[in-house]
Amino acid sequence: MASSNFYFYFLLFFSLLVFSSTAQTSFRPKALVLRITKDNSTLQYTTHVAQRTPHVPVKLTLDLGGEYLWVDCEQGYVSSTFKPLPCNSTKCRGRLYDGSRACMANDTICMESPYNPIASIGTTDKIAYDVLSIQSTDGSNPGKVVSVPKFNFACASTLYLQELASGVKGMAGLGRSNLDSLPLQFASTFGFQRKFALCLSPSTSFNGAVFFGDGPYVLLPNNVDVSKSLTYTPLLLNHQNLVGGFLNESSAEYFIGVKSIKIEGKTVPLNTTLLSFDRLGFGGTKISTVEPYTVLERSIYNAIVRAFVKAFGSNVRRVTPVAPFGACFSSKNIRSTRAGPAVPTIDLVLQNEKAYWRILGANSMVRVSDDVLCLGFVDGGLNPLTSIVIGGQQIEDNLLQFDLAASRLGFSSSLLLKQTSCSNFNFTSVNA
Ligand SMILES: *[C@@H]1O[C@H](CO)[C@@H](O)[C@H](O)[C@H]1NC(C)=O
Ligand SMILES: *[C@@H]1O[C@H](CO)[C@@H](O)[C@H](O)[C@H]1NC(C)=O
Ligand SMILES: *[C@@H]1O[C@H](CO)[C@@H](O)[C@H](O)[C@H]1NC(C)=O
Ligand SMILES: *[C@@H]1O[C@H](CO)[C@@H](O)[C@H](O)[C@H]1NC(C)=O
Ligand SMILES: *[C@@H]1O[C@H](CO)[C@@H](O)[C@H](O)[C@H]1NC(C)=O
Ligand SMILES: *[C@@H]1O[C@H](CO)[C@@H](O)[C@H](O)[C@H]1NC(C)=O
Repeated sequence: MASSNFYFYFLLFFSLLVFSSTAQTSFRPKALVLRITKDNSTLQYTTHVAQRTPHVPVKLTLDLGGEYLWVDCEQGYVSSTFKPLPCNSTKCRGRLYDGSRACMANDTICMESPYNPIASIGTTDKIAYDVLSIQSTDGSNPGKVVSVPKFNFACASTLYLQELASGVKGMAGLGRSNLDSLPLQFASTFGFQRKFALCLSPSTSFNGAVFFGDGPYVLLPNNVDVSKSLTYTPLLLNHQNLVGGFLNESSAEYFIGVKSIKIEGKTVPLNTTLLSFDRLGFGGTKISTVEPYTVLERSIYNAIVRAFVKAFGSNVRRVTPVAPFGACFSSKNIRSTRAGPAVPTIDLVLQNEKAYWRILGANSMVRVSDDVLCLGFVDGGLNPLTSIVIGGQQIEDNLLQFDLAASRLGFSSSLLLKQTSCSNFNFTSVNA
């Protein structure tokens, strides 16, 4: 009795102590979750966060390789808690390679370079902070909403919203290497691991999810914890940032080491030089949420199409292609399976022959009409910056866990084979 009383008062005292010192962090979430919706006209993946005082929902396009959150501060930004980040703050100094380049207006305002990779436009504008709120999760259900009182983000003007989905006010960057990316700010605020998981749904009417923090990541209907069955591959750092940002900083994008590609078990002959970075950071393979389909350097694209057509054999008829695709087929002799149309398997072979990312019909094929299926890869032309850009269609209904501390990617391969999908997180709140 005495000891349980002691325990009770100890807990009460302890929680009051925590409450009085840092009211905002008295509840420590294990992980956080955002709902992701695929926009039906742009195919962008969008989400909402609650920001500002008073709170308003802000619609954002997800940018896996983006360096931070950036929003339009020019139009409609009303908040009593908005503050520009001062140049002399440690948070500003800590991020800079060259203070003089990033501190402007008489050394009073800290600057960053928000970039819109969809319209390929960037600017330099101030970094500010404001309140941001997000839902916590135990991995199975959403929990309490938690707030970050000073969440850093970059400001941009309305002009930079070009080509973003309707209603979008900025982009949510999940990139590595910048202290202000969403996963890194959440991890440092709530003290959880520098990990996040992306699970995109192909549906424009059901939500996918991004989880910040470690698993479990539990999906219905059988409550599978997908974090338990991942294959891992190293994430590679590209020392050259090729898009946006300041010069001479490493890339915030996520690259993996594809060593070869197999179609129906046969290695496709490729110029393997293109699969590594060159001295300037060109080449290699990255994952992107802003490309709806995988984009391949032309010689790789042609080799894949040739091998894919050959693996089909003679009973599948090739038909007039439908843009942006170059290889389309009559679906007449293609049967359906749990993981989409039964087509030749495409394996991205990683650090060794046993570590491969298998792409099945649901991820390789796009249905463009009742009787036409197209290979969902597009020709990226000669000399693109990156030889293979794995796009949205190929990562949907796959869970990808990015572990920044261990610099590795965990991937599930098609969740359809596990009788679930990325739209199966139980977003029904216990408190709702
Ligand atoms: C796209 O989504 C919007 C909003 O959810 C809806 O009003 C519209 O009808 C949809 N369009 C198509 C082509 O599905
Ligand atoms: C930063 O500069 C402001 C205005 O110049 C000054 O009031 C403040 O004390 C400085 N802070 C630090 C940490 O140097
Ligand atoms: C910059 O600082 C100098 C010296 O402190 C001052 O004379 C000048 O007016 C300032 N300029 C601006 C634009 O604030
Ligand atoms: C780029 O960064 C490296 C390492 O931080 C530095 O040694 C080099 O001088 C920088 N180059 C330029 C052109 O700024
Ligand atoms: C392979 O690609 C590299 C990089 O683009 C190029 O320099 C080289 O000529 C290519 N090799 C062949 C055999 O095409
Ligand atoms: C989803 O979670 C809610 C709240 O915990 C629960 O009542 C409901 O049964 C769950 N749905 C399914 C399909 O398990």
